[in-house]
Amino acid sequence: MCGIVGYAGAKDASAVVLEGLKKLEYRGYDSAGIASLNGRLAICRAQGKLSNLEIKLKEKPLPGRVAIGHTRWATHGAPVERNAHPHADESGRVAVVQNGIVENFIPLRAQLQQEGHRFKSDTDTEVITHLIDKYMAAGHDLAAACRLAFQQLEGAHAIAVVSDQEPGKIIAARLGHAGGVIVGLGHGENYLASDIPAILEHTQRVVFLEDREMAVITAGSVEFARLDGSPVTKEAVGITWDAAAADKGRYRHFMQKEIYEQPQSIQSTLRGRVDFTTGRVTLEELPLSPAEAAAIERIVIVACGTSAYAVLVGQFLIERLAGVRVSVDYASEFRYRNPLVDAKTVILAISQSGETVDTLAALEEGRRKGGKLWSIVNVQGSAVHRISDGAILMQAGPEIGVASTKAFTATLTDLFLLGMYLGQLRGVLTEAGSRELAAALARLPELAGQVLADGGNDYEALAELYHQKEHFLFLGRGLNYPIALEGALKLKEISYIHAEGYPAGEMKHGPIALIDRDMPVVCLVPKDNVYEKMISQVEQVRSRNGIVIALVNEGDEGVAKKSNHVLSIPRAHPLLTPVIAVITLQLLAYYMAVRRGADVDQPRNLAKSVTVE
Ligand code: G6P
Repeated sequence: MCGIVGYAGAKDASAVVLEGLKKLEYRGYDSAGIASLNGRLAICRAQGKLSNLEIKLKEKPLPGRVAIGHTRWATHGAPVERNAHPHADESGRVAVVQNGIVENFIPLRAQLQQEGHRFKSDTDTEVITHLIDKYMAAGHDLAAACRLAFQQLEGAHAIAVVSDQEPGKIIAARLGHAGGVIVGLGHGENYLASDIPAILEHTQRVVFLEDREMAVITAGSVEFARLDGSPVTKEAVGITWDAAAADKGRYRHFMQKEIYEQPQSIQSTLRGRVDFTTGRVTLEELPLSPAEAAAIERIVIVACGTSAYAVLVGQFLIERLAGVRVSVDYASEFRYRNPLVDAKTVILAISQSGETVDTLAALEEGRRKGGKLWSIVNVQGSAVHRISDGAILMQAGPEIGVASTKAFTATLTDLFLLGMYLGQLRGVLTEAGSRELAAALARLPELAGQVLADGGNDYEALAELYHQKEHFLFLGRGLNYPIALEGALKLKEISYIHAEGYPAGEMKHGPIALIDRDMPVVCLVPKDNVYEKMISQVEQVRSRNGIVIALVNEGDEGVAKKSNHVLSIPRAHPLLTPVIAVITLQLLAYYMAVRRGADVDQPRNLAKSVTVE
């Protein structure tokens, strides 16, 4: 969703904030703005991409050593300059940026209007500015005025405030789950951001605010308190990501870079967790005794978006490798379903960002019902990570492209490791079986590298032929059914071609009616236990003149003959084939989107991290 950055120090604050916002633009990008303090409060805002704000700032710079900024993804009020953050009060005393929704903004606004406040925007955020102004006018200092204002807000918020009445300060607060509020600690300077990449080039020491906590940030100090005013001591966390990882480098798009990073991110996912001689898996942040593992009766895996497709692979893998019953759900459905959970149930959340509001709410629902909370999460210190009793950190490094790629394959690898780990603890996996799976895992980074290095698959030629098609169908079975879903999702997210993923066996119950000479059908036909069944689906598509793009194992001439095109992948262990197959579909979607001239890293209407319902 929206992104917030703040800076207090000796540098040109608006320049630091602008650079930080550029790193967060993937979170939301219909308008942006910066407020800086240089004796007086000055604000610059622009509709559209961040580059528009940059042009305005070049014409009329905002000098000052303290600034806050925001990239907006509209929820209340059209994406026009008047509604862009920061929002100032009439006297120009206070400026506010917010992520989240002030759910009670209508009564608050009516009350403030009655008291004489005049509103300039259609946003919910502006009420926060007027509330703070009101309490400052009544004699409260900035921190006290913010506390009083924040206590009246309903909903979830991440907020930053500056005021020319106390010019060295930024007040930041987190109320509920509206994305991260991260304070970055420097020497003689301090930072604020909603996500780590914004400040990674300046500091790797960060503090995460919890629900209903505030920070008063100056160049030389940071004080933390709860919303009721009581002080709180916070520990700084050392972030292991390096700044170069959040940079596009030689690639044209972040998504492209992240696709190409997968051999390395899979390797990092395995590092230190598998003993390749014995096949033993260790998951440090999920310590379990054999008795504890045996006591688990059910695992419920929840997630959203791409992570929700990883869930389906997870169900298959954990049931197969560990013999535990697994049920799956979209986090957004689970939380409203009054689900059956008890102390023998584990709720396993999957989230790249660790801040997706529905996923967090699903975990909280699991907690209320007495379940254990585990997560597979990429962002260390994120809300999902913090709330979990046990976690597996993905080791994918920062993922910036809105469409998730390397986090997905890291998750699949982690789910495989979790299945092995539980299977070993529960005595389901034999030593020989473990060694065989570990050997298959050891080859995985190399196989992913082969998919990326192989010039045999001509994605650009396929894009040239089919980029004007309006619909695509993706068919898979077993473990590759979720990969068909993910292939379709990738295509629609970034190229805006309508695409549907379907379990191949269900084709005859509906999608078959759609097949004609205009319908490309991507069929996932690797050599596994449902290979023959998939071949018969290919025949059915062909016999109705559909265009078959078959994903096959290298050298599969039989299927190649029946298809219009093939995408080949090296042969992997059947339980790991999804990891390899999906990379091919990511590339197909990527080249299709590039050919259509779409904005690959910032697809319309989508946000990297969805922190509002
Ligand atoms: C958004 C993103 C997706 C992502 C989903 C879940 O929709 O655009 O790429 O898969 O959120 O995000 P999470 O961070 O919880 O995995």
